[in-house]
Amino acid sequence: MEAVVLVGGQGTRLQPLTLRTPKPMLPFAGVPFLTHQITRLHAAGVEHIVMATSYRAEVFHEYFGNGRDLGVRIDYVTEVEPMGTAGAIRNVAKRLESGPEDPVLIVNGDILSGHDIRAQLEVHRRRGAAVTLHLVEVEDARAFGCVPTDSHSRVTGFIEKSDKPVTNRINAGCYVFTRDVIDRIPADRPVSVERETFPELLEAGAIILGYVDTSYWLDVGTPAAFVKGSADVVTGVVETYALPGPVGEALILDGAVVHAGARISGGSVIEPRVKIDAGAQVTRSVIADGAHVAAGAVVEDSIVGRRAEIGPKARLYGVVVGEGAQVGAGNELANGIRIWTDATIPDASIRFTPLP
Ligand code: GTP
Repeated sequence: MEAVVLVGGQGTRLQPLTLRTPKPMLPFAGVPFLTHQITRLHAAGVEHIVMATSYRAEVFHEYFGNGRDLGVRIDYVTEVEPMGTAGAIRNVAKRLESGPEDPVLIVNGDILSGHDIRAQLEVHRRRGAAVTLHLVEVEDARAFGCVPTDSHSRVTGFIEKSDKPVTNRINAGCYVFTRDVIDRIPADRPVSVERETFPELLEAGAIILGYVDTSYWLDVGTPAAFVKGSADVVTGVVETYALPGPVGEALILDGAVVHAGARISGGSVIEPRVKIDAGAQVTRSVIADGAHVAAGAVVEDSIVGRRAEIGPKARLYGVVVGEGAQVGAGNELANGIRIWTDATIPDASIRFTPLP
């Protein structure tokens, strides 16, 4: 079985962390996010993975090499210009080894999902579909394009974002394509799966199926989702094969120094060479390699980048701190603020007051 993993995006919503590291390589529950995906694909029977890279392509190869350590064979294809999702899929076709009728799995490189990949493949094979999409149900579909299906699970349309979505089912970013469908996507120009490939297939009468599975699913593309997903893996809300330690309140990796009087909870990850001082509280957060959280600081629902410094009694709620940035003592930051790489916030210069 083969899979294509789309990892070429710029990850703008996670900047500045993604300025040096592509989103799928950011540390997530103790390992690069992509490790969780690769091990999951392997467990579902995937032996060969083609990574569709573009932005910072070299980082993937340097870390995963030929994939042998994770029990898979990995090839890399790099787009010179980003080709969009379908363009990227078409662009890797030359490295696929499947026959024209074989199913090929395609996954977005930023999805954390507990759905049953083997069952999705089985439905695709049994029904002889051109494409089978994993669909998830969200409470509020207004922020997403939605994907209605008929009573036989056939997709009837791809509807752009609207204030009155016709269904709460959305594309979950994991598809099974029959190989020859990939070969028919136009080559050498950017193409979007949702806006072009799928609507054209529907128009031509191809069978596109929706595979609805309501297991855990999260797009980790925003800072808030990223910290939530990482904490969910650490606390065991969703199971992965790559967690480098037991499930629990926190994952403290070898080489981190956490003062006995600090409180680490909610599924936080403390990476190697991190130092957490007395009285600091870290909740549902990722503290990356070499960062320092000083005495009495509070870090909640936040990502603290490599070598960043959080000063004494600073308070961070839902904040991204870029690599090497310094947040001075006593600052109070919240609600999606992003401190840029190597920036310095002087002591006691920002206070946050919630709106009434
Ligand atoms: P944002 O800039 O924050 O929206 O993130 P992103 O660039 O990752 O875009 P998005 O979340 O929409 O992408 C979904 C998945 O497709 C991610 O795994 C991306 O890495 C991947 N992706 C997006 N565009 C491209 C592309 O042009 N080429 C390739 N190879 N992958 C892409």
